[in-house]
Amino acid sequence: MSPGPAASVFELIGNTPMVELRHVTRDLAPGVRVLAKAEWTNPGGSVKDRAARQILLEAERSGALRPGQTILDSTSGNTGIALAMLGAARGYPVALVMPKNVSEERKMLIDAFGASIVYTDPIDGSDGALLEARRRVEAEPSRWFYADQYNNPANPRAHQLTTGPEIWEQTGGEITHFVVGLGTSGTFVGVTRALKGLSPRVVCVSMEPATPVHGLEGLKHMETAIRPGIYDDRLADRRITVETEEAYEMARRLPSEEGILVGYSGAANVCAALAIAREMTSGLVVTVFPDHGTRYLSGWLAGK
Ligand SMILES: Cc1ncc(COP(=O)(O)O)c(C=O)c1O
Repeated sequence: MSPGPAASVFELIGNTPMVELRHVTRDLAPGVRVLAKAEWTNPGGSVKDRAARQILLEAERSGALRPGQTILDSTSGNTGIALAMLGAARGYPVALVMPKNVSEERKMLIDAFGASIVYTDPIDGSDGALLEARRRVEAEPSRWFYADQYNNPANPRAHQLTTGPEIWEQTGGEITHFVVGLGTSGTFVGVTRALKGLSPRVVCVSMEPATPVHGLEGLKHMETAIRPGIYDDRLADRRITVETEEAYEMARRLPSEEGILVGYSGAANVCAALAIAREMTSGLVVTVFPDHGTRYLSGWLAGK
C-alpha cells in the first residue's frame, strides 16, 4: 500500500483543543464557565506558530520572501521557535534577535531547529531586541526577510482566520467574553475582529502587566513599551491588568489543582479571566494558554 499524502508541520498548526477550568473556578456563580485554548498543542509548542505560518505564507505569495534570503525577527522566544521550525521545513536560514535572559529551554529549542541567535541586553527588554533587528535590516535590506511580527498584519490575520473562528465553533457560538494578554497584540486583535464580526455582543477584554517592569514573558506594558503597529486600542471593550506575583501563584496552582502546566502568560490570562468571571452571574469566558509550562521549568526550579 502506498502511503497517503503526508502533512508538513505547516498543516499541523491550529485546530487546538479547548480545556475547561473546573477547580480554580470554585468561587464563581454556577452559570459561569471558563475555558482556555491549549495552544501548546501546536507543533512548535505555542500560539506563535499561527502568526509565523501566516507571515511566511503571505510573504512567499507576495514575493517578499525569496530563496536565498535569511528570515530575521526579534522575539522573546516563541516566535523564534516557530520561525526556526517553519524556516527549517521550507529550507530558509533563520536569525533571531532576543534578550539574553529568555528561558534556557527556548534558546535550546531554537538551536535544535538550526537557527542562529543574536543576544541583546536584558535591561533593554523586548524593545532592545526589536531595535537591534531594525538596525540589521537597515544595514543590509536585501539579505533579510524581516518577519516584523510587531507590525506585520499577517500576525493578527492568522488569529482572525483561525483562532477566532475555532473559538466560535468550539463554544457553539455561546462565548460571552474573550480575555487575553497583549504581547505583539496579534492574538487579541485578530480574535477580537473575528468574534465581533460573528457577534458584536461578545465582550473582548485585553490584559497587560500591571507594571512596566514585570516577569510575564511574552506580554507588554503598552503605555511604556514601543507600541506595535498592529495594535488597535479601540478594539477592547475593557482593559485590565495583572500583577506578576498573582500570575506566578496561579502558574503554581494550575498544575496541582487542574492538572494543567502552562507558562506565566497563560497563568496571567487565567487571573484576568477569573477577575471578569467573578463579576458575572452567567456566561462563558474564553482565554488562551499561549504555551506550556515545560518551557519555564528552569526558572521554576530556581524559584524565580
Ligand atoms: C508566552 C507568550 N504569551 C503571550 C504572548 C502574546 O501573544 P501576542 O503576541 O499574540 O499578543 C506571546 C507572544 O509573543 C508569548 O510568547
